[in-house]
Amino acid sequence: MKLAQVDVATAFNPLDVDFVQNPGPLFAYARREEPVFFSPAVNAWVVTRFEDVEAVLRDPRRFTSKDVLSITDLLSPEVRELVGDKIPMEGTLTGLDGEIHTRLRRVLNHAFTTKRIAELEVDVTELADGLLTNFRRRGSADLVSELCYLLPLWTITRLIGIPDAEMPMCRQGVEDWADLTLAYILGADLEHQLTLARRIIGLHDRIEELFDERRRAPRNDLLSEIVAREKSENLTAHEMLSLVPGLFLAGHETIAQSLAMGLYHLLTDRRRWWALVDNPDSVEDVVEEILRLDGPVFGMWRNVTEDCTIAGVAIPSGSRLYVSYWSGNLDSSRYESPEQIDVEQASRLHLAFGRGIHYCIGAPLARMELRVALTMLVREFPDLRLADGFVPTYRPHFFLRGVDSLEVDSITVFAI
Ligand code: HEM
Repeated sequence: MKLAQVDVATAFNPLDVDFVQNPGPLFAYARREEPVFFSPAVNAWVVTRFEDVEAVLRDPRRFTSKDVLSITDLLSPEVRELVGDKIPMEGTLTGLDGEIHTRLRRVLNHAFTTKRIAELEVDVTELADGLLTNFRRRGSADLVSELCYLLPLWTITRLIGIPDAEMPMCRQGVEDWADLTLAYILGADLEHQLTLARRIIGLHDRIEELFDERRRAPRNDLLSEIVAREKSENLTAHEMLSLVPGLFLAGHETIAQSLAMGLYHLLTDRRRWWALVDNPDSVEDVVEEILRLDGPVFGMWRNVTEDCTIAGVAIPSGSRLYVSYWSGNLDSSRYESPEQIDVEQASRLHLAFGRGIHYCIGAPLARMELRVALTMLVREFPDLRLADGFVPTYRPHFFLRGVDSLEVDSITVFAI
């Protein structure tokens, strides 16, 4: 492929299965030749260079997040009527700005304290150990379904305070939301669209019930933290509800895929894996590098509030931007070996958790889970390797990145 001839506007499409397998070359071309381009696929100007992405994220006045995650426009009229205002569209802070964002973020901060993360580390270690039981017995596994997905799902439901038995309902909710986003555009049967919407409404109803339970009997969980601040922060029922369901996606899919894609890269070039086996103390730097190299959040939108210029391109007020953290993290003007896991560059803070007022609130939790899981794997399965012939399939998504499976094996377990 002659990159000089690439039509970036057409070739960039996060919903295209071929594109998401290897978006690196297109982004490298874009950063060099066309760092800001309009993409019909995401209906926005795509920002690709590290410094431009960072500058946009640090300027929420000119580049607002308000309503960026609302899917109302993607719903059929029937579903829209059914949903009404029963499902908040703010996506746990992501679609908010200004005073409301500051107030609600202050509320959530209480659930992500260093003390709470340290308490959860005990649970995470125990869970990870239990989830590896079958792998220990069989010597082969799809780590996406057996470890990567379940570990953060258990953790986020515990952090929120959802009973363990209701974890499948939360997972279903994440899938229903993703399906509903595309159902109308893809012409899915109306009854199916309505079923998805009803299940999502059911999940929200359940969260309201749990708020009521916590009002009567608070516990050590996020639901109780929110209820405790209901009066002092003047929280409306809608605001409280808006904080919770988005966390299933934000706190589950992202960690699952960071672990899966990170392991894939570590195991593809075994020198990187062996370096970690030899020096497990480097795990924190390795975590930063896997997040940078192939992070799970491809990009996010911003709405432009005044005429501006980015990388020489004039962008009128009212336009939308799609800032690509993923592309920025591979920028060779920031990193000497952008396409390698290189612990020497781990101190140069990447963009995988964003920047500015929307910087990921769950970053400490994510770092802890990734560190625990990787440490356990290198210690227990030093000879872990990809199954023969395994090639991951990256999944298309508007703004998330991830693989379907991660087939691995280990001969250590046969020796047990
Ligand atoms: C490796 C895992 C994760 C990655 C890569 C990640 C990435 C991000 C990014 C890039 C943003 C900024 C979005 C923007 O600029 O609009 C963000 C925001 C956010 N993340 Fe994460 N995230 C991860 C894990 C988590 C976890 C575990 C939680 C919660 C349990 C979480 C909750 C949130 C929330 C609530 C926001 C919105 C913050 C705000 O708008 O003020 N994330 N995340």
